[in-house]
Amino acid sequence: MTSNLTRPTPLGHDLTRRGLELALGKSTDMAADVLRVPLGYYRDDKLTDLEESAILRRVPLAVMAGAQIPNPHDYVVRSVLGDSLLITRDRDGRAHVLLNYCRHRGAMPACGSGNTRRFTCPYHAWVYDNTGKLRGVPGSAGFDGMDREGYGLVELPSEERHGFVWAVLTADAEIDLDTHLGSMGPELAQWNYASYGYHDERFLESEVSWKGALEAFAEGYHFPFVHGQSVIGQNTLANTHVYDEFGAHHRVGFPFTWITDLHGTEPDENWDPVRQMGVIYWIYPNLILANSPVGVEVIDILPAGSATSCTVRHSWMATYPATTDEQRTIYDTIFGQVHAAVRDEDFAMLPQCGQGVRRGQHDHMLIGRNEIGVQHMITVFAEKLGLSLA
Ligand code: FES
Ligand SMILES: [Fe+2]
Repeated sequence: MTSNLTRPTPLGHDLTRRGLELALGKSTDMAADVLRVPLGYYRDDKLTDLEESAILRRVPLAVMAGAQIPNPHDYVVRSVLGDSLLITRDRDGRAHVLLNYCRHRGAMPACGSGNTRRFTCPYHAWVYDNTGKLRGVPGSAGFDGMDREGYGLVELPSEERHGFVWAVLTADAEIDLDTHLGSMGPELAQWNYASYGYHDERFLESEVSWKGALEAFAEGYHFPFVHGQSVIGQNTLANTHVYDEFGAHHRVGFPFTWITDLHGTEPDENWDPVRQMGVIYWIYPNLILANSPVGVEVIDILPAGSATSCTVRHSWMATYPATTDEQRTIYDTIFGQVHAAVRDEDFAMLPQCGQGVRRGQHDHMLIGRNEIGVQHMITVFAEKLGLSLA
């Protein structure tokens, strides 16, 4: 690892100590019991509609890393749950999340990404600024008496914090990030993601439940079987989880094979947990943050029109923003490797689970005590949706 691309984390040696104990004892943090999950949890389209309306359009989602729009007048258009979002940074540095639909007749004023103060709708050339205000209407005599103030792009409630732009996808909703994150807020603050450098992103679609796809990032039970040929399987202990809950959210530490070298040593910088384990967060409901000493994978997963289809956005940020071509090349290589593992290993496997839940005639799935993070995800969703798993 290139040491000048890494920096210590403030997570504390106790996390490492717990990982070391589990590694030496060939054990894992575990749930109290196995969990039975009816197949409908993964395959019921009506349930997915409810997840979208009651959860995904109601709670703050991290729709973009702030570092992806670092400068005033930067913007990016992205689709979230089928909505085209225009995410901008205005001249004062404030981020906005706007619905990218023209107030005239609905065309999309922005596309792609770049740096601009103005967006001109391609249909009749209404012009909006990067706070969403309507600034120009060709042939304005045709719109006599129109109050332009009332015809800006619709802005979604949003807030930038902990390195991400969070938004609620419902225009008249409130955003309350502190309540949403709870004890995860201070945990995220420690990483100082706002100082990271955005590097790149890739998109995938997969025929698997969005919840099932998220679960792949909550357990290391599959590591030797799905990732046996790559660095994940080779560097990380199988089926070993240092597990902590932060309200609805969770953190799992996946110890690296070399953690046992610490046995008998005194804590020093080598005891920094991020050197000794992959630290992966699930930020309820749909975000995964997978940390390494050089950066963080930012993975968001959402349903795509059915219970067993999902869209995946996989991006990567560097602990230190690249300032040289050499650094950029190193980051390209790192992101290329981690993305290949997600695309060619996890998402090569997961569509089989999509088949299994669509076509299976068994009654339920069985989630092990060792799959404690998966159990937590299911328990949280079930509670929010008012489902009984019994
Ligand atoms: S639809 Fe945008 S200007 Fe007509
Ligand atoms: Fe995996």
